[in-house]
Amino acid sequence: MDVAVVYETHYGQTRAVAEAIAEGAREAGAEATVMEVGEATPDVVRSADLIVVGAPTHVLSMSRHWTRGRAHPAEVGTQGDIPDGVREWLATLPAVEGEWHAAAFDTHLPSPLSGGATHGIARGLRRHGFTLVGEPERFTVEEVEGPLRTGERERARAWGEDLARRAAQPQL
Ligand SMILES: Cc1cc2nc3c(=O)[nH]c(=O)nc-3n(C[C@H](O)[C@H](O)[C@H](O)COP(=O)(O)O)c2cc1C
Repeated sequence: MDVAVVYETHYGQTRAVAEAIAEGAREAGAEATVMEVGEATPDVVRSADLIVVGAPTHVLSMSRHWTRGRAHPAEVGTQGDIPDGVREWLATLPAVEGEWHAAAFDTHLPSPLSGGATHGIARGLRRHGFTLVGEPERFTVEEVEGPLRTGERERARAWGEDLARRAAQPQL
């Protein structure tokens, strides 16, 4: 079982969650790789038995070019590129046919009004033909730049282990 954990990050928090998910998947006996969204080519996606896609919540949803600009003010108005996020990646992801497994997660602030990126990620994955392995999961950061709330890394690890075990079952 090959698991690819694909993330977008601006302060490193979603990457930390992605790495913990991959550790958990390895606990379940999977081979797991972690990659930033720009590295997740269609070939990489097709070679995985399970893709786990995560992004930070920006303005209640997945990031947009201008919200990423807020996180990288030095790049705004220069030739320095603001890289694409999961929203743009999903838009260009080729559709799959057959039984392809995926899961979605996000990071967000601890507010009841925080919104979330998982809804859009899950919808995008389904639209491209993926079957979601369980419900999307959400991980809390204490402040915009982090850190992750205490215990979130462990929760991410346990979730990754559970996902890999579920995806390995012939019938979900
Ligand atoms: C421009 C901008 C908008 C944000 N909007 C929200 C929001 O609507 N809801 C929320 O919970 N967090 C919001 N955040 C906080 C991010 O979710 C937080 O920075 C992210 O989880 C950190 O993960 P990262 O280090 O992987 O980027 C926002 C952050 C930025 C930079």
